[in-house]
Amino acid sequence: MTSNQPLLDNKPFSLSGDRFSWYAKMRRESPVFYDVTQSAWMVFRYQDVKRILSDWQTFSSKMPHPPEQIDFTQNLNRTDPPQHRTLRTLVAKVFTQGRAESLAPRLRAITQELLDRVQAQGRMDFIHDFCVPFPLIVIAEILGIPIEERDNFKRWSDGSIAGDLSAQRALGDYFRDLLQQRRGQPGTDLISDLLAVHEAGEILTAQELVDMCILLLVAGNETTRNLLANAIVCFYEYPDVFERLKQEPTLLPLAIEEVLRYHSPFQYLRRFTKVETQLGEQTIPAGQQIFAYLGSANRDETQFERADKFTIDRDPNEHVAFGNGIHFCLGAPLARLEAAIGLQTVMERFPNLRVDPNATLEIIGGNGLHGLKALPVLFG
Ligand code: HEM
Repeated sequence: MTSNQPLLDNKPFSLSGDRFSWYAKMRRESPVFYDVTQSAWMVFRYQDVKRILSDWQTFSSKMPHPPEQIDFTQNLNRTDPPQHRTLRTLVAKVFTQGRAESLAPRLRAITQELLDRVQAQGRMDFIHDFCVPFPLIVIAEILGIPIEERDNFKRWSDGSIAGDLSAQRALGDYFRDLLQQRRGQPGTDLISDLLAVHEAGEILTAQELVDMCILLLVAGNETTRNLLANAIVCFYEYPDVFERLKQEPTLLPLAIEEVLRYHSPFQYLRRFTKVETQLGEQTIPAGQQIFAYLGSANRDETQFERADKFTIDRDPNEHVAFGNGIHFCLGAPLARLEAAIGLQTVMERFPNLRVDPNATLEIIGGNGLHGLKALPVLFG
């Protein structure tokens, strides 16, 4: 494979090429489409997706039939106002941009440590060796998970994301214990702050606290992992951009926004209609499931010039990769900082980093996530 061969959009690496040409066809021909097999409406155009995310009165985030489980039923991203407003106000008071920014030196140190481990090999699986552990260590530090408990924590976290009920139960019990300990002996971690936070007489209930911890853990892992790895894929696909970034690292934040748009870590979000509504030419009854395709909205040519090109000159870049409206990603400042520091450090230490030409790249499927299973890279 030559270095300027597109990775994700062309065969033999047709990991998502079909996905993006399918979106383009749907935007043109069936922008609001009822998929019988999934009993869901699929929505592809930027303006429609944005409206769905901003109109929570019509498009609810609450599941009409939530799964039967003890924990993770009161989580922020599956609530509507007024419950959402209360939860979000409380958490936003402690999970602030300033808190994320204060972590910068730690983010740099964690990145260096992870790169130290692979330096001598001259190669690594960028996902397994860097993108997976990095956000997990960061969130464990933010939550104040003791080092000796990190292995269990990782196992339960992976299991929970994969839908393993016993891992979910273990994770819930773990946070219940930790919350109890911090209640007696507060520290400087986010869990202690969540226990103390209150606003106009409102506090988080015991169950809301557990669910919030689980959400903070799961919401940022696979997403940040995909952002980091998809960035390397974009830079490899566009080597001129990679060279420019090495010369002008101050452009990295713009490049990260473009990765978010071009290869959005989440491809779609789910909503449920509360009332009958009109979307494009379709009338959608109440009680229907909607998939709002962020990945397609972010490639909509009516919103983005040359939408199928990765270019770091877009400014503003009003992508919807972090959502829009009341549920806009609470972790966006942290994710952006992790990506900026992580990628800059990788570029400084391994300027010669390139995707292994013998690698077979496989896309991960399901749940709307968009990324690769593994990303073998060489840097020697
Ligand atoms: C590149 C990384 C990330 C991406 C692409 C991403 C994407 C998103 C999106 C699209 C939503 C909106 C969900 C909806 O409207 O239904 C969201 C919500 C959320 N994200 Fe992120 N996220 C990322 C990283 C993080 C991180 C690092 C954290 C925290 C550690 C986090 C915490 C949250 C929370 C708590 C919500 C729920 C907000 C609410 O419902 O009010 N995210 N994220």
